[in-house]
Amino acid sequence: MLIAIDHVLTAAQVAQFRAQLDSADWHDGARTAGTLAKTVKRNQQLPDGSELAVRLGRQILQRLAATPLFVSAALPRTIYPPKFNRYADGGEYGAHVDSALMVLPDSSQQMRTDLSATLFLAEPEDYDGGVLEVDGPFGVQQVKLAAGDMVLYPSSSLHRVTPVTRGARLASFFWIESLVADETERSLLFDLDQSVQRFTPLVAPDDARLVQLSGVYHNLLRRWARP
Ligand code: NI
Repeated sequence: MLIAIDHVLTAAQVAQFRAQLDSADWHDGARTAGTLAKTVKRNQQLPDGSELAVRLGRQILQRLAATPLFVSAALPRTIYPPKFNRYADGGEYGAHVDSALMVLPDSSQQMRTDLSATLFLAEPEDYDGGVLEVDGPFGVQQVKLAAGDMVLYPSSSLHRVTPVTRGARLASFFWIESLVADETERSLLFDLDQSVQRFTPLVAPDDARLVQLSGVYHNLLRRWARP
């Protein structure tokens, strides 16, 4: 399931990010790709651990913590510190599946990648191509969102970024290990939580139906979560 989350960053935050990223020191992205991915990856990245990447990444994490739709959809246990990439001049990333396990920077702790996230930092009209294509059970889904919006997709899915033939595509990308590893269980919890959220304003807080539905959500989460 693909989930788009609008306005993770405000327009003012996007402008502030861009002012700093447009003059940043970008490196060849192939350096950090795995052996197989290296052959299909043609883009630029901010060096991991650079002061700018760390600072902007922290701002993104703060916003995500205050975005209920993200928390409901991802049920995050661990979030990889956000990275930043730039595609221009025909840059692309061919079909690949993200690595299942990542080592967190400056630590020996491993995390499993359940969800992949792309936070768009360029307006769609400012570049041609640069579409994120994600293969799923219903075919290929194409994603190109407004600056400040983010998409979540299963890390297990085959995906690619089509060549950027005009302008530049800037984005932040990172991975999430979820408290609920199973995609189907996580999707069911998300649907149930969304329906509880929509039902809540329609009834009194002690409405027996709301209390029961909310109880079902928490009891399923209790069964399926692996903190
Ligand atoms: Ni990828």
